Amino acid sequence: MNILVTGGTGYIGSHTAVELINKGHHPILIDNLSNSHEEVVKYIEQITGKAVDFFNVDLCDRTAVFNLLKTLQVDAVIHFAAFKSVSESVLDPLKYYRNNIDSLINLLDALVTHKINRLVFSSSCTVYGEASLMPVRETDPFGPASSPYGATKQIGEQLIKDATAAYGLNSICLRYFNPAGAHSSALIGEYPLQSPTNLVPVITRNAIKKSNKLTVFGTDYHTPDGTCIRDYIHVVDLAKAHVCAIERMFSDKVRSMHEVFNVGTGKGHSVLDVIHAFRRSTTMELEYTIGPRRPGDIEQIWAATGLTEQELNWKAQCSLDEIVSSAWKWEQQLQQQLIKKADAS
Ligand code: UD1
Repeated sequence: MNILVTGGTGYIGSHTAVELINKGHHPILIDNLSNSHEEVVKYIEQITGKAVDFFNVDLCDRTAVFNLLKTLQVDAVIHFAAFKSVSESVLDPLKYYRNNIDSLINLLDALVTHKINRLVFSSSCTVYGEASLMPVRETDPFGPASSPYGATKQIGEQLIKDATAAYGLNSICLRYFNPAGAHSSALIGEYPLQSPTNLVPVITRNAIKKSNKLTVFGTDYHTPDGTCIRDYIHVVDLAKAHVCAIERMFSDKVRSMHEVFNVGTGKGHSVLDVIHAFRRSTTMELEYTIGPRRPGDIEQIWAATGLTEQELNWKAQCSLDEIVSSAWKWEQQLQQQLIKKADAS
């Protein structure tokens, strides 16, 4: 099947492109390269041995989106393209609402016009807000969004639910927990243009630069070691969940035209657990300091995974140690690549 992957050169988009190709599908990548690199296309091709179509298109450019979809033969869409930093969204909320919502409206409009009716949406566990009962289930209500980023995911899900009902679409929202790690080839991984803000790439960047600038944001939470708890999921496991979601939409298994699934491991790990896992699996020393809580952070969250296991026939395979060691392998490869580039120029 021809699958349009928005945000296709980004972190999760690129790993999903690889898994789609591994299952015999044909991903068509679009990205505006605002936080990713075009050379990712070359690495996807190197991993899979298949040529990949890429279009540099900004989904906020309505005319460009309509023109592109007019020319393509698309069976389904996976929509990743969005800004994703919780902290940046607190500092600049309009940037987040404008980008994440305008792009989704343009995309939905173009899908309806061009009669493309299957959509998988990149949602987040952030929609649950500060939930009181763990693990969180898909049927739990949305809590107040803890950040504008979180609000854009809640609004995004609502927009898709309404559009599904009104225009006869088939949609699946995947609520990711905390994606981390990298492809085993170390050819693709998290490679943002800006400095990383997520915990695992911050750890690996600090370790490689030996910069001792890692700060643990808050040790006074009501958790066993005082630091926040998250459900860290390997990006390749997450990518495979997208393939399952796409294939479900072409099967007779769909129970409702709009479905929602958690994509996590079902296990919570604290910030200090992640640091210990990194030290354990890499034998690297890693210094950190304790800082204040980060605005927009919630205390703890992890997934109930039963529905996803049963309906999507998917279960996370990788452990926290595998996540951090793959992220470390990727970081080392990335720095070597950057050094080679600097030497060549
Ligand atoms: C949030 C979303 C997640 C989304 C991600 C995208 C929630 C609950 N989760 O993840 O669904 O995929 O944004 O960016 O909203 N930390 C430090 N020091 C650092 C960096 C992080 O202590 O330098 C801590 C944070 O305070 C947090 C944990 O590490 O407790 C994870 O943070 P991060 O990796 O940024 O992800 P979330 O904000 O949890």
